[in-house]
Amino acid sequence: MKILFIGDIVASPGRKTVQTVLPNLKHELNIDLVVANADNLAHGRGATESTLKVMQEAGVDFFTGGDHLFWHKDSEDVLEQLPVIRPANYPEGVAGTGHKLLDLGEHGQVLVISLMGRTFLNERLNDPFTTADQILEMYADKDIVFSVVDFHAEATSEKYALGFYLDGRVGALVGSHTHVPTSDTFVMPKGTMFVSDVGMTGIIDSVLGVKKEIILDLYLTALNQRFEWEEAGRKVFRSVLLDTQQKEISRVDYFDL
Ligand SMILES: [Fe+2]
Ligand SMILES: [Fe+2]
Repeated sequence: MKILFIGDIVASPGRKTVQTVLPNLKHELNIDLVVANADNLAHGRGATESTLKVMQEAGVDFFTGGDHLFWHKDSEDVLEQLPVIRPANYPEGVAGTGHKLLDLGEHGQVLVISLMGRTFLNERLNDPFTTADQILEMYADKDIVFSVVDFHAEATSEKYALGFYLDGRVGALVGSHTHVPTSDTFVMPKGTMFVSDVGMTGIIDSVLGVKKEIILDLYLTALNQRFEWEEAGRKVFRSVLLDTQQKEISRVDYFDL
């Protein structure tokens, strides 16, 4: 089985890039499941029903989230009605769920888990390490052929630590959130496929998707700025391919679209 994981799709340029690249790529690489991080999908923050549906039409099967997922008013309905999960380590009572078992027919069942880091990000969250333990325990008697964790986190150290903690217990741990792709795809000693960050899908000539002039002003004046997402320019598509038979993880990137 081949699973494609697309990193943070940022605003309308990100969505357009997915629409351009994904249909052919899915066909060319014989991809069975496409999971994408939707944390910045709508106007750069969060995901809406319409933006998720556009991505479903382009070929994305399932979505994970992160720190911006609850930005829009209808986010709770979206989490109920669409195939999207939020980080599992939000405190109890928060809408939605952080894990889902997907039935891929002849390929079997794939478990997708979303977790968020605490280091430099949100220290109020529950511990992602023990949350992962609890989720895996919950699914221990289920027939699962592969499991993917999207670890939405800032610190590469936290990502490596959780990767090694879950090594051999999940099929893959892929990082998201920084919007910067890392070239450290590898298989951990006990078999877990790993990458620190898949990187973003969106405009290259921006600061993580935001208009570069705005972020320059932020640094030069130290005054808070109103963020505007870059709408025009060269685009990039960032993803990783998880081949469960070959037990391989590899980057699939398209630069300058
Ligand atoms: Fe994020
Ligand atoms: Fe993001």
